[in-house]
Amino acid sequence: MKTDRQLKELWFKFFEKHGFKKVQGYSIIPENDPTVLFTTAGMHPLVPYLLGEKHPAGDKIFDVQRCIRTNDIDQVGDNSHLTFFEMLGNWYLGSCPKEEMIALSFEFLTSKDYLGIPVDKLAVSVFAGDDVAPRDDIAANAWLKCGVKKENIFFLPKDNNWWALGGGVGPCGPDSEMFIDTGKPKCCGTCSPACDCGKYLEVWNDVFMQYKVEKAGEKAVKLPRPNIDTGMGLERAVLVLNNSTSVYDTGCLRRVIDFIESKAQHKYEESESTKRSYRIITDHLRSSTFIIGDARGVLPSNVGQGYILRRFIRRSVNCARNIGLDAKYFADIAKIYVEEYGQDYDDIKANGQKIQEELIKEVERFSKALEEGHREFEKTIKGIERHKEFAKEGEIVENIISGKAAFRLYDTFGFPIELTCELAKERGYSVDEKGFADKFEEHQEKSRQASAGQFKGGLADSSKQSAYLHTATHIMLAGLRKMFGDGVYQRGSNITPERLRFDFNLDHKMTEEELKTLENFVNEVISRAIPVTMEVMTVEKAKESGALGIFTSKYGDEVKVYTIGDVSKEICGGPHAENTSDLHHFKIIKEESSSSGIRRIKAILD
Ligand code: ALA
Repeated sequence: MKTDRQLKELWFKFFEKHGFKKVQGYSIIPENDPTVLFTTAGMHPLVPYLLGEKHPAGDKIFDVQRCIRTNDIDQVGDNSHLTFFEMLGNWYLGSCPKEEMIALSFEFLTSKDYLGIPVDKLAVSVFAGDDVAPRDDIAANAWLKCGVKKENIFFLPKDNNWWALGGGVGPCGPDSEMFIDTGKPKCCGTCSPACDCGKYLEVWNDVFMQYKVEKAGEKAVKLPRPNIDTGMGLERAVLVLNNSTSVYDTGCLRRVIDFIESKAQHKYEESESTKRSYRIITDHLRSSTFIIGDARGVLPSNVGQGYILRRFIRRSVNCARNIGLDAKYFADIAKIYVEEYGQDYDDIKANGQKIQEELIKEVERFSKALEEGHREFEKTIKGIERHKEFAKEGEIVENIISGKAAFRLYDTFGFPIELTCELAKERGYSVDEKGFADKFEEHQEKSRQASAGQFKGGLADSSKQSAYLHTATHIMLAGLRKMFGDGVYQRGSNITPERLRFDFNLDHKMTEEELKTLENFVNEVISRAIPVTMEVMTVEKAKESGALGIFTSKYGDEVKVYTIGDVSKEICGGPHAENTSDLHHFKIIKEESSSSGIRRIKAILD
């Protein structure tokens, strides 16, 4: 096994052989989930099914899910951290045959037909138990039965062996992680897979989702229908299995590094700093390709996913400067990714041109902002010079750019601190870098608090109220299309138990009258008490039947189609109201711009 593509193929072959059904991964932009900006794990889009909804493909499924995680963004550039990765996952929905899953995991890892890892090199961890869930002897015994050595089975506490969504709400449970023992000596007497000494490297995780947390801060309670959720990060697994040192050593990432090297003035291995810059560009532009190219594509902006995308691209421009690479080559790098991933993802293939164009547009916008930043820099210097000129008797004005001024250059004009320092040096100035770092921390803390405040509701919330609001979005979209034509599509949706927030394309601000018409339309459908019905069909059939939906997937997949009489037909994961009369009364509370050409409606049911 050498490449990520080969590992994917083995994964498909193995789970098909064992009677699991392949389903398509979802969009990288989550739907109806205000808790995260991007899909972060294979299980994330499956939350409704983990909480009890029926999956159209049945109870045994597997997939490859595109994921973005930004919590480790500052570590990108080292050997193993990535913002984008593909996660191989498989699920038992509604049942939890632990022994069976562990036997499957063991077979995939050790069989010569698959990964062929010698049993002696396999180590596993299982949950040590706490006041919510007992010590997982069932899992430990299952590993023993497979042949894993007793001394290679580690009981670890909740910090290591419990898996839950980032916000802590939703399905969760004890897990059992699988590691390769690299053969390095133990770092200490209690050395275990919990250490980051590098002896044990994780390859896979089986989560026994037998519990759920209903509200942040509450204790986990048992799920009526338990599940198994597993996840293997593709690139990291390839790294471990090949015994390589970095995720950039093989496959497509290596091709991008080689391409950059053919165009840049500085070599990849020239220094730690050039290596880091190469890797950041390689990682960030792959994430950018997936964000722009997604069927629910997002463009650079100053909020939400658009802001993260902007950061990815602008950070890449700064790194390109560091290695002497013209940022116009970003388009060629995106092309390499489109060629590679277009084989698996239809939307990436279809949006190849758009991805290249949008990357270059953002590079140009950034270059304009930097020009303005240069002017601002000159003003700052002038201010200090003037201060010197008019300094009071005995007052010493030093050639130092304050932390506050450096932060303003960074925050408003996108000036990286290195650039400010460089320019300052040319002028015989220095920069208060400590002051800059303090301001930077302060700012990060503020954003952390702001995003922590978002954790509520979302997919993990399957309350009736959210289901009703979900149905309301379908009716509302039908109304909008009736009013403004079939060119109107959903461009985003975010539901909490209190309200819906719905984005759609429209070229003007809706008038008071139009809002009233829409509200009346929805309320009229509610008063007709129409049953909401669901049918499972293939993507082709769904398309043929005129169902609306985001088609990221290949053909052959089965999907759920929700129908509301003659009003609406949409592909959707659910859950929904049973009858429109459940919704009672619909009220729009706000209509505003979301981004260029996209309007946003917030509404409630009262
Ligand atoms: N959801 C689990 C993970 O992401 C499998 O590790």
